[in-house]
Amino acid sequence: MPKLNTLQDIYIEELRDLYNMETQLTKALPRISKAVSNSELRQAMENHLQETENQVDRLEQVFEMAGQKVRGKKCTAMEGILEEARELISMDINDNALDAAIIGAAQKVEHYEIASYGTVRTWARQLGFNDQADLLEETLEEEKAANEKLNQIAMEIVNEEAEQGESNFEMASDGFDSHRSRNGRSKK
Ligand SMILES: [Fe+2]
Repeated sequence: MPKLNTLQDIYIEELRDLYNMETQLTKALPRISKAVSNSELRQAMENHLQETENQVDRLEQVFEMAGQKVRGKKCTAMEGILEEARELISMDINDNALDAAIIGAAQKVEHYEIASYGTVRTWARQLGFNDQADLLEETLEEEKAANEKLNQIAMEIVNEEAEQGESNFEMASDGFDSHRSRNGRSKK
């Protein structure tokens, strides 16, 4: 790998990471949304797949504006997050709990993307590439909105339904102070 000297070099490198991240997602999202039971959640995932395809195009525009070839660089973090999502889907989980778990996995994706786009947007501004920064910010806003939508669905429907299944874990029903150990001493 060539030596990266400047913020501009790091910026291009991070764009490549993002490009790979988004293309991984366009491949993974259809399979994840197929595993969803709740129709509102499935719709949100399908909408986000379309958005993700636009985000790939937007990144291609950013590369072009930066005078760079469109190229990705394997994003191992996204690979790991998606691998965990695949594991979830292959587990024997009841529909509502699986939906809740898929929302959790999807929010990990969104948070990672929000962090990455926030960073490259800021770097683009610092470097004076305002047109590129504007495009990156557009995607950043979409990722934030997708995350909010997942929050809303989780609150309204899925988490409530997931509570109705019978748990394999015996939970303390009341009065357990998580700041204290069993012998009553504070763990602080
Ligand atoms: Fe995205």
